[in-house]
Amino acid sequence: MKIVVTGAKGQLGGELCRQLDDKAVPLDIEELDLTDRDAVLRFMLSLRPAAIVNCAAYTQVDQAEREPDRARAVNAAAVEHLVEACRRLDCPLMQISTDYVFSTPNSRPYSEKDPPSPRGIYAQTKWEGERAAAAWPKHWIVRTCGLYARPGDARAKHFVKTMLRLASEKPELRIVADQHCTPSYVPHVARGLLFLGGLTGGTPAPWGLYHLTNRGATTWYEFAAEIFRRAGLNVQLTPITTAEYAAPAPRPAYSVLDTAKYHALGGPAMPDWKEALAEYLAEREDGRS
Ligand SMILES: NC(=O)c1ccc[n+]([C@@H]2O[C@H](COP(=O)([O-])OP(=O)(O)OC[C@H]3O[C@@H](n4cnc5c(N)ncnc54)[C@H](OP(=O)(O)O)[C@@H]3O)[C@@H](O)[C@H]2O)c1
Repeated sequence: MKIVVTGAKGQLGGELCRQLDDKAVPLDIEELDLTDRDAVLRFMLSLRPAAIVNCAAYTQVDQAEREPDRARAVNAAAVEHLVEACRRLDCPLMQISTDYVFSTPNSRPYSEKDPPSPRGIYAQTKWEGERAAAAWPKHWIVRTCGLYARPGDARAKHFVKTMLRLASEKPELRIVADQHCTPSYVPHVARGLLFLGGLTGGTPAPWGLYHLTNRGATTWYEFAAEIFRRAGLNVQLTPITTAEYAAPAPRPAYSVLDTAKYHALGGPAMPDWKEALAEYLAEREDGRS
């Protein structure tokens, strides 16, 4: 069984390939540029995969504001190309999406039934990608949030790694304290995705939309505080607002996702975000010793 994993040099794609082992056909832009429709069709029709998991994306949220055409080509048009290939092959597509499709403040975690309200180019193009994927009935669209890869993933850029680096560079850090989300550890998310697709055995989940993150909710400020507390680092942290941080692209003030639909299927339990962080830090320590 050949399972194509796109974005295979990225955080999530890389981990999926590790977990799928020799079932994975890892692809990144060097092997196949997904924005090239003809190349996508040629490649997929000759390979005839059993499933495609699309982890490729234009993920630079702020830069997307300056490169909307490129972001749209990767996050939306490329999904249309994959759908075209899937139709011809009768092949299931798993499309990875984001909590950023939500933007309005909410008093409870968002369920799959809540209507999206994307703000900013990255969010809008990811939402367009969801709609493109949904045009092919044999799809799983899975939204996740705040990904951080294993410490051994040298190429990955994420919040935990950035905080640990900044701790040794700066005596004081100013961190946004008014954005609520669920940081999610990539190995846990990858395991859940494989369960949903029945990609390592078991029955695949019904086609449709799923939310998949670690459990619980926090802010970037609290998350940073927990990273430093658990890592035994003494860093002076100052909470700031999103407005003070003044990033070019908008960020959701609240984008916690309700994972009840995933958990009702009996898949591997997603640990609480603090347990997930502890696992990351333990693995980092092991890697050093
Ligand atoms: N990171 C997060 O916190 C987060 C949160 C929620 C949802 N998500 C979603 O989760 C998925 C995986 O995210 P991630 O953090 O693993 O992303 P990532 O590390 O940025 O990996 C994405 C990969 O896709 C590749 N890519 C870009 N354009 C391509 C193209 N035209 N053709 C083929 N490959 C291309 C990138 O290559 P280059 O590096 O060379 O561009 C990169 O290797 C994405 O759908 C993302 O939107 C991520």
